[in-house]
Amino acid sequence: MSETTFKQRVFSGIQPSGNLTLGNYLGAVKRFVKMQDSGIETIYCMVDMHAITVWQNPEALRKQTRELAAAYIACGLDPQKSILFNQSQVSAHAELGWILSCVTRLGWMNRMTQFKDKAGKNAEKMSLGLYAYPALMAADILAYQATHVPVGEDQKQHVELTRDIAAKFNYDYGVEIFPAPEPIIEGTATRVMSLRDGSKKMSKSDPSDKSRINMTDNADTIASKIRKAKTDPDALPSEIGGLKDRPEARNLVNIYAALSETSVEDVLSEFGGQQFGVFKPALADLAVNHLAPISTEMARLTAEPDEIDRILGIGADRANAIATPILKQVKSAIGMIARD
Ligand code: AMP
Ligand code: TRP
Repeated sequence: MSETTFKQRVFSGIQPSGNLTLGNYLGAVKRFVKMQDSGIETIYCMVDMHAITVWQNPEALRKQTRELAAAYIACGLDPQKSILFNQSQVSAHAELGWILSCVTRLGWMNRMTQFKDKAGKNAEKMSLGLYAYPALMAADILAYQATHVPVGEDQKQHVELTRDIAAKFNYDYGVEIFPAPEPIIEGTATRVMSLRDGSKKMSKSDPSDKSRINMTDNADTIASKIRKAKTDPDALPSEIGGLKDRPEARNLVNIYAALSETSVEDVLSEFGGQQFGVFKPALADLAVNHLAPISTEMARLTAEPDEIDRILGIGADRANAIATPILKQVKSAIGMIARD
């Protein structure tokens, strides 16, 4: 096993492929902020090269990347404390992505459930990039020798693959360049479900806007989506066991717990025995109080795109300064000639 100890460093990313949802916020960004404030070095990326694995309108990509940057900042990420940048500005991601594609085995890629979910029966028509994307994700993380990766539940398999890729690279070249990064999946909202179907993940790409809460939704929209969220006719239980086989009820309780930073037990001890007619308005108030200031701040920030671009440029320079020497070590280990 590895003797090398690596400096603790956090890396995570989100695709600028649409509106940020409440799922992204609770499953990812809220925890990015916690980690930033814990004093560890934190690097957060807008992964535009991942986004283009499915077609993106160029103007929309530009806009969504800036909106995601604004959302990061509005949620509490501070560009002084964290490194914030868009992936394509740091070429180490693409370069290391290729190198790691040559380490990754097809058999490993064929097990990736997200590709199967996204491609469905249309795998032949998907881009090669969509299939290869977990190797690029490994490069994102390993280009910084990151040790901790806060993500939602759906990304666990990709971070585990990153560990396998890192170990194989180290073994194949007899080096200790890459750490084994750990997925950090914590809290009550690691998998926020659709408001319309408790068996589906809340997603930016769901065709129904009513299935999700967008971080840009205004107070009325948020309240109306929660009021109309699918539920069952029973009252809320007083114990967690009573949420079994009630995915929609469980989802709303989880969201309440995550937003109020309490446990599911506490939420049920407050609302157990109550009907959704009582619980939903309470949840709507909580969500609006929490999210409305964020969307107001996002609107203010997106009105100044030049300032966002400037922040991303500074972040890219800082990211590049970390990744370049690591990539140099990688190339040297492989036997690639470079100028000094
Ligand atoms: P994506 O929107 O796919 O780029 O996801 C960005 C981050 O948000 C990843 O860490 C995901 O795991 C997380 N995430 C996305 N959707 C959800 C969800 N419905 N619940 C919890 N986390 C999510
Ligand atoms: N694949 C992630 C998603 O779709 C986004 C992502 C890309 C990422 N690179 C990453 C997350 C590196 C964590 C670390 O959600």
